[in-house]
Amino acid sequence: MEWQLLMLTEFLTEQSARLHSVNYMEILNNKITANELADILRISNKEVLRELYAQAYDVKLRHRGPNVYFRGLIEISNICKKNCLYCGIRAGNEKVIRYELLDSQIINEAHFALNAGYGSVVLQGGERCDKAFTNRITKLIKEIRLLRRNNFNKEANSNALGITLSLGEQSKEVYKEWYDAGAHRYLLRIEASNRELYQKIHPCDNTISSGANDARIKSIKDLKSIGYLTGTGVMIGLPFQTYIDLANDILFFKEMDIDMVGMGPYIPHSDTPLGKMYMSGIMVPGEVANLNNEERLELSIKMVAVLRCIMPTINIAATTALQVLAPDGRERALLAGANIIMPNVTDLSVKGNYNLYEGKPGVKDDAQTTKYELEKNLERLGIPIGWDMLGDVR
Ligand code: 5AD
Ligand code: SF4
Repeated sequence: MEWQLLMLTEFLTEQSARLHSVNYMEILNNKITANELADILRISNKEVLRELYAQAYDVKLRHRGPNVYFRGLIEISNICKKNCLYCGIRAGNEKVIRYELLDSQIINEAHFALNAGYGSVVLQGGERCDKAFTNRITKLIKEIRLLRRNNFNKEANSNALGITLSLGEQSKEVYKEWYDAGAHRYLLRIEASNRELYQKIHPCDNTISSGANDARIKSIKDLKSIGYLTGTGVMIGLPFQTYIDLANDILFFKEMDIDMVGMGPYIPHSDTPLGKMYMSGIMVPGEVANLNNEERLELSIKMVAVLRCIMPTINIAATTALQVLAPDGRERALLAGANIIMPNVTDLSVKGNYNLYEGKPGVKDDAQTTKYELEKNLERLGIPIGWDMLGDVR
């Protein structure tokens, strides 16, 4: 049996008298169920949670070592053809000032990340599938792969940047073209592994899918078969979402043998249909939709901790959305098993226009300030940074 499940079992055994009754034999058989996971996600006792986070951190230390790894985030454009009901840059939001970074700006930002020792960059943007766009990305990937540090650093593990893409649903051919050009990781959140829940927050507005998450699942399979390190994730606190849904999300990551996960709280944006519903004061349906900010943040951190125990070697991001609900939200996730941070390196002139949700932190900080602040916080926590390293598992 995997030892981390044993740890989880021990943990649950210790706490069970007070909190819940869990079928330990099932866990011992390495078959933790959605119900058992949901029970852990419902824990609210602070002392118990401290212990859960400490155990998850220990799992991370043993399997991945002490480092946190950086990926410099470049928000290349907020132009998107989709209309996800929760997202501030959805096509239907006419208040958004749309932008597209120039190639030269993207290259400069990537160069900053390389010289800063970030090891890799993430190219993130709204979803577009036109040929002009996909060709341009191919060209950019090739150019970024050719970048070398200004001062050749002999100690550096790599003098070239790793490239992660986060550019939505594409055809398998396009994924392959980008992989062949030099990208090696792809992030595509499933958002909600429950098919009906996914359908409720995604209008049927694109050519590939029916509005359900089938197309996303197909994309994730395509990405894996091409050879990408594949990342996915969910939002926490959605309407209609239940603890069982969240438990199933974790089981979905495991079943798909995902390499990386980025998940965080859903944060309302007032210019979106979902945001308007949350801000109207009406009770939103769903077990976790009406949690207050602290409860929603805590639930997101519990998800990180449980995922770390169940998938000990994967990369888990401490996402920016966590920082919206509390200034130390990301740090709390790092101390519960997350090991990736994506410092924003996007040009200040447009950073404020890439607003997926309200209250995006650091929009006035340039890339240098962002780096300085992060270094300071991580030093205080005693978490070392894996400078110049990719931090991949395989
Ligand atoms: N709150 C939190 N996360 C959001 N995302 C989009 N809109 C929001 C929001 N309002 C997340 C989605 C998407 C990722 C890029 O950002 O999960 O996949
Ligand atoms: Fe576009 Fe992504 Fe926002 Fe959906 S979540 S509207 S695909 S940027």
